Amino acid sequence: MKKDFLSLLDLGQGELNDLFELADELKLGNHFKPLEGKVVALIFQKPSLRTRVSFEIGIHQLGGYPVFLPHESVGIGSRESAADAGRLLSRYSQMVIARVFEHNVLLELAENASIPVVNALSDLSHPCQVLADMYTLRQHGKLRPGVKVVFVGDGNNIVNSWLEMSMLYPMHFVLAAPAGYGPDPKILQQAMAAGRSRIEIVEDPMAAAHDADVLYTDVWTSMGQEEEQVARKKAFAGYQVDFRLLGEADRDCVVMHCLPAHRGEEISADVLDGKHSIVFDQAENRLHVQKALLARMIDNRALVGAPLQYMETGELPLFSS
Ligand code: CP
Ligand code: NVA
Repeated sequence: MKKDFLSLLDLGQGELNDLFELADELKLGNHFKPLEGKVVALIFQKPSLRTRVSFEIGIHQLGGYPVFLPHESVGIGSRESAADAGRLLSRYSQMVIARVFEHNVLLELAENASIPVVNALSDLSHPCQVLADMYTLRQHGKLRPGVKVVFVGDGNNIVNSWLEMSMLYPMHFVLAAPAGYGPDPKILQQAMAAGRSRIEIVEDPMAAAHDADVLYTDVWTSMGQEEEQVARKKAFAGYQVDFRLLGEADRDCVVMHCLPAHRGEEISADVLDGKHSIVFDQAENRLHVQKALLARMIDNRALVGAPLQYMETGELPLFSS
């Protein structure tokens, strides 16, 4: 059966660590070509810099051929249904990566495509981002059970993916958001019920930041919410990640942001550009982690631990079919 990656919960037990180990190996060189001869279609209904570029480059480096399909040319929902687009792309390509306004579009695509579908951000979640974020925390020696991750700002797609991550890895996750800007209630309930992590939703960012290992923020107005911008700016005043807030956190706290950032809104320029910030490591790691993900999805037979020389010769029998 094909395997989609629509949510972090599509990862099986133990797969997180396997992906990270594979990403470590892929970071060392570009000799491994599991996508040789394969076409990957990218449907993007919204703008993107990091996601589009890291996927396109990653697909090239893995030997595949990316076909970028901007919203204007596909017109899902206006020119063609997601279901038909999924059926059609399954005849031409081996995988679809999609960034959509409505998560339901992803579900419809995946249901009707016979090839794997990857969530490159929806209104509900952004699993590729949080996967790379966890890899970045591991790189900075921050990944230990109980790590305190404090997200200050909107309970948006990034927060929903963090809640899903909290079901895979034990952490203390705190969201500090104004009333009415919480996460998806179903995902929150599921994460609470899973009992894997300690989860708190609070309104006071200063109290939330106490002893934080990680301070994370994202824009106050996500793509698709532009009409709410004025109201949101008002609601989130007081939720800026700045030096005052950083002062409450652990002295070795790292600052994260998925980018793009608005300096002076959700984060002050001195914190975003300061020594606690690891935002460009996060962005770089999108490439390495997504390559590991795609390699696994195209052929999920075990690869981790495969001696590097096999990868370098390109003769790894696992990928010969
Ligand atoms: N963080 C992220 O997904 O960036 P883009 O919107 O530029 O892809
Ligand atoms: N929450 C943001 C994330 C961008 C990467 C958005 O959806 O616009």
